[in-house]
Amino acid sequence: MGSIVGGVIAPHPPHLVYAENPPQNEAHSEGGWEVLRWGYERLRADLPDFDVMVLLSPHWQTYVGTHFLGVPHFKNKSVDPIFPNLFRYNYELDVDVGLAEAIEAKARKAGLVTRMMRNPDFRVDYGTIVSAHLLNPAWDKPIVGLSSQRSTHFYSVEVMQEQALALAAATRKACLESDQRCLLVASNSLSHRHFTTEAALPEDMSREHVTSHAMYLWDMKMIGLLKGGHSREMVDVMPEFINQAISEADGGALSWLIAALDYPSEPAEVYAYGNVIGTGNAVAGWLS
Ligand SMILES: [Fe+2]
Repeated sequence: MGSIVGGVIAPHPPHLVYAENPPQNEAHSEGGWEVLRWGYERLRADLPDFDVMVLLSPHWQTYVGTHFLGVPHFKNKSVDPIFPNLFRYNYELDVDVGLAEAIEAKARKAGLVTRMMRNPDFRVDYGTIVSAHLLNPAWDKPIVGLSSQRSTHFYSVEVMQEQALALAAATRKACLESDQRCLLVASNSLSHRHFTTEAALPEDMSREHVTSHAMYLWDMKMIGLLKGGHSREMVDVMPEFINQAISEADGGALSWLIAALDYPSEPAEVYAYGNVIGTGNAVAGWLS
């Protein structure tokens, strides 16, 4: 029998990969954003053994339904469209197509619009790449990649929630029926108000801070709920959080994660909180 060994919130600012200078990235830095990167280090040390990462990224934006990576191996270059100066990353990754198909089939049966993505030349989005790199820099485990269907923007945040929860139920069922130990990954920031200009040196940490106190208060509200084990309340306040903090949870990843973990009541471990070009980012997890 398969299992869900845990779930993590793994934000994907490309700055964090840029700051680490891995050989895959063409851009080179002098460092930066250490608190978040050290948080990721501690999170990696705490990860239980797993066979596959099931990851939902807000940057694979599909406007008709949820899509699933459906090719066993991808190799390409990922360039961040907003920060091409920071992130031009040569990636190679494996996909657990069997598990992806199992989740897709269950989601379809539940009435969601779905599609397997079978184009071998598809360029995997940078949210998926950054979160997967920061969780497993060795890239020695396959992933399952789920897209973000943008119903927050096309319909309403309530429709997004309904669809994310249905996708979570399908994910949970397929993972438990598989023969894999699955790690679930929500690739998103919390508050997501960006600065509109960048420092001449992006890693100049004298310039980094949260964009506003209102954003900070919302981030601390959500982190308080994480630390208190109040995951159901997080889902309940998600519409307000998304609207008021311009949260990247608008893509559905956080609601999906909490529901797929079956609303954990134990506290999440918060490994780090930090700002990246003003956005609020928590590195956190429920790891059994
Ligand atoms: Fe993002």
